[in-house]
Amino acid sequence: MKKNFLVWLVAIMAGLQPVFSQSASITEPGVAIFYPADFDSIKTLPSLAVIKDLPKRDSLPADWAVRPEYFQVDGRNAVRFNLDEDIDLYGTGEVIGDLRRNGTDVTLWNTDNYEYAKFEGKQLYQSHPWILGVRPDGSSFGILVDNSWRQEIVLDEDAEIISEGPSFRVIVIEKENPQEVMKSLANLTGTMALPPLWALGYQQSRYSYYPDTAVEELADEFRKREIPADVIWMDIDYMEGFRVFTFDDEGFPDPAGLNDYLHSKDFKSVYMIDPGVKQDSTYFVYQQGDAGNHWVLDSLGNEYNGEVWPGQVAFPDYTRPETQKWWASLYQDFMDLGIDGVWNDMNEPAVFDGPDGSMPDDNIHRGGGELPKDIHLRYHNVYGLLMVRSSREGIMAANPEKRPFVLSRANFLGGQRYAATWTGDNSATWDNLKMSIPMSLNLSLSGQPFNGPDIGGFTKSPSADLFGNWIALGAYYPFSRNHTSNDTEAQEPWSYGKKIENVSRTAINRRYRLMPYLYTLFHEASENGMPIMRPAFFADVTNEELRDEQQSFLLGENLLIIPKWAENAAMPEGDWQTVQFEKEDDGYQATVKLRDGAIVPMGPVIQSTEDYSTKQITLLVNPDNNGNASGTLYDDAGEGFGYKNGEYSIHKFTASKISKNKLKIDVEQTEGERKTDRQYRIGLVKGGKVVYSNWSSGKKLTISLKK
Ligand code: NOJ
Repeated sequence: MKKNFLVWLVAIMAGLQPVFSQSASITEPGVAIFYPADFDSIKTLPSLAVIKDLPKRDSLPADWAVRPEYFQVDGRNAVRFNLDEDIDLYGTGEVIGDLRRNGTDVTLWNTDNYEYAKFEGKQLYQSHPWILGVRPDGSSFGILVDNSWRQEIVLDEDAEIISEGPSFRVIVIEKENPQEVMKSLANLTGTMALPPLWALGYQQSRYSYYPDTAVEELADEFRKREIPADVIWMDIDYMEGFRVFTFDDEGFPDPAGLNDYLHSKDFKSVYMIDPGVKQDSTYFVYQQGDAGNHWVLDSLGNEYNGEVWPGQVAFPDYTRPETQKWWASLYQDFMDLGIDGVWNDMNEPAVFDGPDGSMPDDNIHRGGGELPKDIHLRYHNVYGLLMVRSSREGIMAANPEKRPFVLSRANFLGGQRYAATWTGDNSATWDNLKMSIPMSLNLSLSGQPFNGPDIGGFTKSPSADLFGNWIALGAYYPFSRNHTSNDTEAQEPWSYGKKIENVSRTAINRRYRLMPYLYTLFHEASENGMPIMRPAFFADVTNEELRDEQQSFLLGENLLIIPKWAENAAMPEGDWQTVQFEKEDDGYQATVKLRDGAIVPMGPVIQSTEDYSTKQITLLVNPDNNGNASGTLYDDAGEGFGYKNGEYSIHKFTASKISKNKLKIDVEQTEGERKTDRQYRIGLVKGGKVVYSNWSSGKKLTISLKK
């Protein structure tokens, strides 16, 4: 402190901004770690974002480009990075506005932000202290600020991070391209666990379907109309007076029966659980929480109460190991009712009568185990992460043979380890539809691959045309769920008449046909952190024209999705060929383009992933100039953990020309012990058409290249 004070004094006298000293070292190749001189590990560590030890291995090379300068501004601890003007910036988590973040600022303070209207939309439900920088030559860096305290990221001429907490450490990743930076981020913060296959299906939600018979009718309607779907969501009205872990006697008297019914129709069910527990001495969850001393305390050390849906509630203090265990244990009986997944909402935490819609900064979290006792200002941004970590553990304990699925509204950098996310209370507007692409992309570029907005918009009611356009895009979001509020018109795919019903079916059919590819991408994301939805510039990181392309996006490496409404979307170079799925254009479907040199595995239309099989796989191929192409298919049981013991397969496909007019594809199982009796056919994508070969067992896979 003394030294800092002197530096500061000298700097002030010299009319300069004070810059504090720091230590810097290389912790692994291409990853540097910086500590300010006054670093106090108790105040910001252990990190809830970074899960790796970061030993100081080597000294920082003299030519290391991206270095923080620690300084103070208005008594707040800050860092600044001097960045060249020609660097494009991305990430910073869940943000509205453009894909390219240069010139923007964001406050990292998880906020219940209805219609993104509060604070100019500059603080939303999640916080990711993370910036991705891409230079003109494609070489890239990532700045990870290992700090959960309330902070701001200001991307102006410099990048500045200004915190309301103590000094913090910073990690800088330096790699040859943004893809490698993403993998390195995943190496530091962990990856999304492989979800159950059903979570990749189309999902239908509303606040709220009520009562249970309405849910059953909804399931029947999907099957009757042959619109594929996997999940129906239960929002808060299934509860008894919004008491978590209870069921409304009248509307949901037999949840196990309802879940059985849904399962019999090949649907899964996801139920909402909020953190706030109604302050009611006759209610078992409150009683247990009280007896176990599980609540967040106010600054005087008394139980803190605030208003959420059920009235006054108490909030579990997830920093306490005992509370984490207790919370997890509540899921045992709950999941035993045949519930498949859990939706954790309002976990910023949202408090209707609290300051700025949350709890006071000086509330007390008692910690224990690894986490020290500290005030809410430190733990606010990780409240949601700690909640979903504990929910996930409870769900795992209840169903050890199944892959857990949790959706969370609030989260923090690294939180992809525990939950998928959606982008909160958006609106049924064209602006929000268009913005959903850069929003999902920046979340993806911040380590969260499993995300998407409410299809159709949460507030307001979309016109038929807007809904048609939204569902035609929504089929390609990693998380594909239609959800709307309780005061809006019906928003099911058939609510807008025959035409839009057909548009919806076509779009969702396409998602299910692409499921083998999508699942392969989810597997890749779970292994190395590569986003599922990627910005167009990932196709050519040296092409600066692509750097702000935000109408179109990539699904994995091989497909480019261009919504119908996109105007002059910047195209990556190469011979990207349009995949023709249907005979006729309905005016809404996105254009899906296959990269030259790529092979994409595709399946048949199915009504839910319950019918998923890889016994017949179409290999969409777009050979490059030399007649070469390659692709991959990951396959496993879609559920359970057998894949961790070899019960999976990875097949590699390699196309080459065997004569002037003939293409062959070699199929090789490169990993795993899963054996599938599989037939393949080639789907040659050329000139807006797909030409199919006959089905074959995969040994002799050839197709004529003649027109
Ligand atoms: C707020 C969530 O953002 C929304 O999706 C949900 O429907 C309502 N809470 C009611 O639970």
